[in-house]
Amino acid sequence: MLFRQFFDITSSTYTYLIANKKGAEACIIDPVLENVPNYLKTIQDLDLKLVKVIDTHVHADHVSGISKLRDKTQCITCMGKSQNASEIVSMEVNDNEKFKIGDLELRALFTPGHTDDSYCFLLDDKIFTGDTLLIGGTGRTDFQNGNAEDQYNSLFNVILKFDDRILVYPAHDYKGETVSTIGFERKTNPRLQVKSKQEYVDLMNSLNLPNPKLMDIAVPKNKKHGVPLEIQMQSNGINVQQLKTMIDQKVIKLIDVRENFEIQRDGSIENSIHVPYAQIENFFKNIELPQPSEKFVLYCHTGQRTYLALQKLKNGNIHHLVGGILNWIEAGEKVHYHHHIN
Ligand SMILES: [Fe+2]
Repeated sequence: MLFRQFFDITSSTYTYLIANKKGAEACIIDPVLENVPNYLKTIQDLDLKLVKVIDTHVHADHVSGISKLRDKTQCITCMGKSQNASEIVSMEVNDNEKFKIGDLELRALFTPGHTDDSYCFLLDDKIFTGDTLLIGGTGRTDFQNGNAEDQYNSLFNVILKFDDRILVYPAHDYKGETVSTIGFERKTNPRLQVKSKQEYVDLMNSLNLPNPKLMDIAVPKNKKHGVPLEIQMQSNGINVQQLKTMIDQKVIKLIDVRENFEIQRDGSIENSIHVPYAQIENFFKNIELPQPSEKFVLYCHTGQRTYLALQKLKNGNIHHLVGGILNWIEAGEKVHYHHHIN
C-alpha cells in the first residue's frame, strides 16, 4: 500500500494520502487548503487518480482543502452522515458503512463527542481517528455540539474495542508524535485512565481551553464547501417537477451515478440505469448520443457529483437533477429498492 502522512505546521494537522499502489485510485483524509498544491504534486508524481477526499468532521482550526481538491480533480467529497454533511459533500457514509478506494476498503465509524459530526475511518490495520482519539489526548468537547458523554462512548465502546495492534493516526498532534496504537493509548493515554463515564465527563468539562484562533473563520468556511443548488441549476440542472414531467412524457433516460451502497441504502428512482460516477465519461463516449428529442438525466445523492459530471460532458441533451435524490425524496416522490445491483 502507498501511504503518506502530511503535516501542516500552522494548524498541526495531519493529512493522509492512501492508495493501493502507483497508478491506482487514491483518497485523501483531512486535507488542509494551503497544502493542496503539495498533495496534487504527490498524486501526480505517483500517477494516482484521486477519487475521494474525506473530512473526519467540520474542522475549527483550519480551512479544509476538500472543495479545492474536488475542483482540481473532480473527485467525490465525503463525510459521515450528519446534519450538515449533505450540503458540504457529495457522498455521505453512515456508521459502519464500507466503501472502496480501488482495491482498498474503508469503514466509517460514527464517533460523536469532539463534534456531533465526528467519524473515524478504519482501513485494515489503521484507524484514522480525527479529533476523537489523539496521541496521549482526546479532542476537546466544548464547542460545535461537542459532548463529553458521547465521546466517552465513542472511545470506550467503539475505538478501544479494536485490536491493540491497530495503528492510530489522528488528525492532529502538537508534540511531534506521528502514530500510536490502540493498545498503547488504552494503557498510557491520560484521558483514558478514568474509572467511569462521569470521571471522564468531569475531566473534559474542567479543561477551560481558549477557542482555536481560526474558529470563527474556519467553521463557517468549512460548512460551505458544497456546490449550492443555484450553481448546480446553471449547469443544465432540472428540478424535481421538471423531471417528473419528463418522465411522464417518456422522453428521457435516467442515469443513477451513485455507488452500490448508496443505492441499497436510499433506494433509486424507478427505471434508472446505473452508471457509477467514475465511468460516466466512458459511458457517453461509447454510446450514440441521444436523438434531439431524447434526453439524459443524471442524478446522484446531492446533485454535486452530477454537477461535476456535466462540467466535463458539456452536452445540451444531458441534464442533471439539482439536489439529487435527496431533493426527490424530500419532495415526497417515490423511490424503489433493488434486490440485486450489478
Ligand atoms: Fe476538530
